[in-house]
Amino acid sequence: MKVEGDRMTSFLRIPNDDSAKLCAACHKQNSYVVGTDHDLSITAPNERNMEQQTVAEAGVCSACHVVHNAWGNGLWSRSVGLGENRNEARCSGCHWRRKSASKKSLRGPNHPMNKRVNEAKASLQGETASFYIYDSEAKVRTEFPLFTRDGFRTPDGDITCPTCHNVHVWDPEQAGPGSARKNLEGDGGNSFLRKSNLPNSQLCTTCHAKKAFIQGTDHDMSIVAPESKNRLKQSVAQSGICSACHLPHNAQKDGYQLWGRTPGSGSELKQERLCLGCHAKNGVGSKKVVTRFIHPRKVLVTEAHRIGNESYAPIYDKEGNEVQAGVITCATCHEPHIWAPGIDKKGPGKPTEGTNRTSFLRFKSSKNICRNCHGLDSLQKFKYFHSPSSRKGGGSRRSRPPGLIGQP
Ligand code: HEC
Ligand code: HEC
Ligand code: HEC
Ligand code: HEC
Ligand code: HEC
Ligand code: HEC
Ligand code: HEC
Ligand code: HEC
Ligand code: HEC
Repeated sequence: MKVEGDRMTSFLRIPNDDSAKLCAACHKQNSYVVGTDHDLSITAPNERNMEQQTVAEAGVCSACHVVHNAWGNGLWSRSVGLGENRNEARCSGCHWRRKSASKKSLRGPNHPMNKRVNEAKASLQGETASFYIYDSEAKVRTEFPLFTRDGFRTPDGDITCPTCHNVHVWDPEQAGPGSARKNLEGDGGNSFLRKSNLPNSQLCTTCHAKKAFIQGTDHDMSIVAPESKNRLKQSVAQSGICSACHLPHNAQKDGYQLWGRTPGSGSELKQERLCLGCHAKNGVGSKKVVTRFIHPRKVLVTEAHRIGNESYAPIYDKEGNEVQAGVITCATCHEPHIWAPGIDKKGPGKPTEGTNRTSFLRFKSSKNICRNCHGLDSLQKFKYFHSPSSRKGGGSRRSRPPGLIGQP
């Protein structure tokens, strides 16, 4: 009698059983996929790979890999979806409308992908460069894997989905197979992330190292407003510090700064509406509302320092891009991630009353760009920018200079 081999027989040294023992003999970490959302016997038992096999028939890995007759590199076992990088295309083959993970398809806007870390925009070059670790032999090593367009790992490759996610391990802090055996709803601490984002968004600050100084400041919502939620209804306890303001997926429509909340009103510039969404009467920052905040828009300010230089004071065009000649907005003076200028340190861990030497100011006044035009008045004008004293006529409506559009 002729016997059709299957995954338990076929002369295999170890049966390819439900705990993926065969593959685990050499790929231990990958076998932790068993019992997670990527064990399709749990989340999509009827799904078939290219060979028309379900996971029940061919084992947990077979949903994505086959050892023979694979579809291109990575021993891939199924068709792929859209994506500039082969790995992104692998994910979107399932995470897409009408596919097995349609409930978790990503509408975007998403975190920048399919570019190399050192192709970051000028203002982020310095920060993201520190993501590369130079070892003693002057070789570049990265903490998270980067990929060629074809999906191979390479130290100077692109950021793409598996840069932040390891599809095989549900919870980076629990080395072992998933145990729930049901479809879990992920959060910032699991979701197949390479590093947990709880509580302090450590995944994000692996690359955005300087932004880690936000911890313990007035912009750490776990300290000043733990109950507040972003547009996806997540608190920072569920999704990490950064999530109060930024989202890696499904951010605010135009994708500007990957914004994770509804922008406010009171300014015609979107970069100011980011701040004004919270610093408003009905916002999370309602205890700290400023009304006099507009520098005359008709004044075009030029910056001699190049973008990316430590001394560059960001000035913006109407679209919110940092430029060499543009207007002064909130972020020209405030760096929302660092409590005090020149002090690269985390905050004190409790709500703090700001002064004109802290308050997330970007520069000590000595370094500011006001002097070119305001000369001797510039220190006063900078330090008391929101106060009536630095405004014409004490900020009264009648004597406002003509450039002050929209000034309350
Ligand atoms: C839901 C899909 C999926 C399942 C199920 C899956 N993998 Fe993967 N695997 C991927 C993707 C996508 C990549 C490429 C991304 C990467 O390198 O991290 C990959 C990469 C790999 C790699 C090469 C990179 C590395 O981590 O060393 C190995 C080895 C691997 N998988 C083994 C396995 C084994 C063994 C199983 C079953 C126990 C399995 N995979 C189950 C999607 C899957
Ligand atoms: C005897 C050890 C061994 C066993 C058992 C084994 N593998 Fe591998 N596998 C390897 C080695 C070695 C590589 C090459 C690793 C490398 O290139 O870094 C590899 C590579 C891979 C890759 C990546 C291929 C690529 O092109 O990047 C995948 C996916 C993979 N194996 C899946 C599996 C699956 C699924 C099973 C179980 C059916 C399995 N392996 C069983 C040793 C093994
Ligand atoms: C074989 C199909 C398949 C592939 C390929 C695949 N996934 Fe999934 N993934 C699923 C399914 C099914 C779920 C469970 C969806 C649900 O909850 O309804 C899931 C769940 C997830 C979740 C957890 C969502 C949550 O919070 O519940 C994440 C994160 C995820 N996948 C990321 C990825 C990434 C990143 C890739 C590519 C590197 C990828 N997946 C490739 C099928 C796939
Ligand atoms: C810069 C890092 C980063 C990159 C790149 C990235 N992700 Fe994510 N992803 C995250 C984080 C962080 C979360 C967890 C969000 C949370 O706190 O719930 C997440 C969550 C998810 C989820 C679950 C969403 C939900 O609604 O529950 C899916 C699915 C997912 N990612 C798939 C992908 C795919 C597919 C790609 C590539 C197109 C990708 N991710 C690229 C960081 C990233
Ligand atoms: C692998 C490194 C890496 C990780 C991890 C990472 N980022 Fe980024 N991020 C970058 C790079 C590089 C850029 C610049 C891309 C560009 O300029 O096109 C960037 C850009 C951004 C931007 C600016 C987007 C814009 O439109 O200008 C924001 C906001 C951001 N990241 C937030 C996050 C958050 C939040 C996380 C965690 C969920 C995160 N990043 C994780 C590397 C990373
Ligand atoms: C309270 C709100 C808030 C929180 C929390 C927050 N940010 Fe931001 N972030 C902003 C605002 C506003 C901007 C735009 C102004 C600017 O460029 O500084 C921004 C800009 C950025 C940029 C783009 C900078 C550039 O030069 O274009 C990155 C990257 C970024 N944030 C990363 C992070 C990371 C990582 C975290 C968590 C550790 C984080 N942010 C937490 C408000 C926040
Ligand atoms: C020209 C520089 C400059 C600009 C532009 C600017 N600020 Fe300020 N801001 C300051 C200074 C200086 C302080 C510190 C005042 C003090 O505490 O004495 C301050 C303080 C604040 C405070 C704390 C007020 C309080 O009551 O303690 C908030 C909130 C604030 N700014 C928000 C904003 C927002 C929102 C914008 C844009 C819509 C903005 N700022 C634009 C310089 C500026
Ligand atoms: C997620 C909501 C949120 C966003 C977005 C946000 N803030 Fe805040 N901010 C807060 C909260 C909450 C506090 C603490 C207020 C308190 O003391 O009760 C705060 C505190 C401050 C303070 C210190 C006030 C003091 O004197 O104690 C300044 C200055 C400030 N924010 C400026 C800004 C600027 C400028 C932006 C935009 C670049 C911004 N914030 C964006 C929520 C936000
Ligand atoms: C390119 C020249 C230029 C630069 C640079 C500049 N300003 Fe001005 N500023 C002006 C002009 C012009 C006016 C309107 C005429 C006036 O009131 O003097 C003005 C007005 C003001 C006002 C009064 C607004 C009112 O309502 O009456 C303040 C306050 C102010 N600037 C602060 C600053 C600060 C702080 C800086 C540095 C961050 C700065 N300016 C940089 C040209 C400049």
